[in-house]
Formats: sequence, structure tokens, C-alpha cells
Amino acid sequence: MAETAQNGVAVRPARPEDLPRIREIYAHHVVHGLASFEETAPDLAEITRRFEATQARGMPYLVAHATAKQDVLGYAYAGPYRTRPAYRFTVENSVYVAPGSERRGIGRVLLAELIERCTALGLRQMVAIIGDSGHLPSIAFHESFGFTRIGTIQAVGFKFGRWIDSVILQRPLGEGAETPPGDKS
Ligand SMILES: CC(C)(COP(=O)(O)OP(=O)(O)OC[C@H]1O[C@@H](n2cnc3c(N)ncnc32)[C@H](O)[C@@H]1OP(=O)(O)O)[C@@H](O)C(=O)NCCC(=O)NCCS
Repeated sequence: MAETAQNGVAVRPARPEDLPRIREIYAHHVVHGLASFEETAPDLAEITRRFEATQARGMPYLVAHATAKQDVLGYAYAGPYRTRPAYRFTVENSVYVAPGSERRGIGRVLLAELIERCTALGLRQMVAIIGDSGHLPSIAFHESFGFTRIGTIQAVGFKFGRWIDSVILQRPLGEGAETPPGDKS
């Protein structure tokens, strides 16, 4: 599929050869941050398993790089918010930017493309679950896309020796709840 580019950042679907770099980026955030509630960075086999599961569901899994270079600087994907059938029009997003590459518009281009693709698939709601209510960059990032803060689940995790909240934000996709879903079910 075509690559899209905006302000020097290009986005395209992830490929298997991107997975070692994706693993590296995610490992940084697992080990140093609270965005993920994982505590041990998954190995390449597990990252590959997750990538293949996303592809099998027909959900987008994207990478971003500077237009002039091929080094992957961030990635994003959509997955089921919850697996029971009635949730099937709702996805949860994940966006991770490489350390040292933040605030250069990489996350913005990734999430814009993710929203566009999920909307085109007929999905109706996107949910972002942010680890740590103090994680203002991620909350501001999602609010800049029209996500609304729905609530906070307090002290739901324990990482780095302290209790961690989850902040839930939500954004309608396409017609959201204004019309029935495409499959009329
Ligand atoms: C959150 C994250 C994806 C943002 O990506 P990014 O490439 O740094 O963000 P961008 O440069 O595209 O910023 C887009 C907008 O988000 C907001 N934003 C991003 N970082 C911000 C910060 N540190 N403080 C305030 N607002 C911020 C701003 O509105 C910004 O627009 P502006 O630069 O024109 O003001 C990135 O910081 C990251 O990977 N964080 C760790 C993982 C994570 O928390 N992921 C989200 C949950 S899955």
C-alpha cells in the first residue's frame, strides 16, 4: 500500500523486517515508562506473535520514518478494546515513538493515519488507555486529536514501586454512535 507523508514524516504499514526495531522502541517504554503495564520487555517472538495477530484481525499496524531515511522512529496499531462480540466496533490504540524522537510530529502522523484507517474499516469508537494520570504528554497528545477524557481508574497498577492510575480517553470514529454500524447488527 501507499506510503503517506506529512511534514517530513512518512507512514506505511509495518513489515516483518521492522519488528526488531519495534521491539527495541517498545522495550525502552516498558523498562523506563508507565505507558505500558508490562514490566519485562517482550522478545522478538512475542512481538511477532502480536503483529501477526493484528494482521489476522485486519487491523492497521503502522510505522513512521523520516521521509529522507528508512529508520523506524515510531509505530502504532489498533487492537480490540475488549474481545467479547458487542465490543467489535471499538478499538484501543497504541502509539510509541522512539526515545529522542518525541515532539517532532511522529506520533501525530501515526495516529492520524491510524484513525483514518480504522474509520475506513467501519469502526466507530477508539479508546486510549494511558498509564499514569500524571502522563501529561500522552493525555495532551490524545486531546489534540479530539479524544475526551472519560475517567480515571485509580491505583489499578503497581510499577516502579508505586500505584499507577489508568486514564481512559475516547474518540468517535466516523459517525460514531449517531447511526447503526455498517453490518446492521
Ligand atoms: C505520546 C507520544 C506518542 C506522542 O508522540 P510525539 O511524536 O512525541 O508527539 P507529536 O510531536 O506528534 O505531538 C503531537 C501533539 O501532541 C501534544 N503533545 C505531544 N507531546 C507533548 C508534551 N510533551 N507536552 C504537551 N503536549 C504534547 C501536542 O499537542 C502536540 O502538538 P504540538 O507539538 O503541535 O503542540 C510519545 O510521547 C510517546 O511515545 N510516549 C510514550 C508512549 C505513550 O505514552 N503512548 C501513548 C499511549 S499508548
